[in-house]
Amino acid sequence: MKEELLKRAWAVMENAYVPYSNFRVGACVLCKNGQYYCGANIENASYGVTSCAERNALFAAYSAGQRKADIVALAIVSDGERIATPCGACRQVIDELVPADAPIYLSSKTEQIESNIRALLPMSFSQEDLKHV
Ligand code: THU
Repeated sequence: MKEELLKRAWAVMENAYVPYSNFRVGACVLCKNGQYYCGANIENASYGVTSCAERNALFAAYSAGQRKADIVALAIVSDGERIATPCGACRQVIDELVPADAPIYLSSKTEQIESNIRALLPMSFSQEDLKHV
C-alpha cells in the first residue's frame, strides 16, 4: 500500500505547476474501496491562491464522494533533499478530512517518514469546538 501510494504521488508530482517556487509536490490518497486520488501543487501569480498538492488530492477524493471514514492513508512527496511536511493550512484541512491515525507517508528524494495528523497537529481546532456555541 505504501509503495503504491508513493509511486502515484511521485508520478503526479510531475504535473506540478510551479513557475514561481520551482518546488514540486505530489500527493496521493488511498480510500477503502481501492480508489486513489492524486494532486500536485498549482501556483498562481497571486501567490496566496496557490493550492498545495495534499489539499488538491483530498479535495479530489471528497469531490468524488469519499469521506473521512473512507480514507486509509495519504502520501506526500517533494523533490527536495529535505522532507516537506504539510504547511499549517494543509494540516488544518487534513485534520478535518483524514482520520486522526491514518498513516501519512512523507518522502523527499532521500528521506522517508511516517506520521499522522494527530502528531502533526496536536490540540487542533475542529468541529467539536463549534459544538459549544
Ligand atoms: N507546498 C505543497 O504543495 N505542499 C506542502 O506540503 C508544502 C508546500 C507547495 C506550495 C508551493 O507551491 C510550493 O510548495 C512552495 O511553497
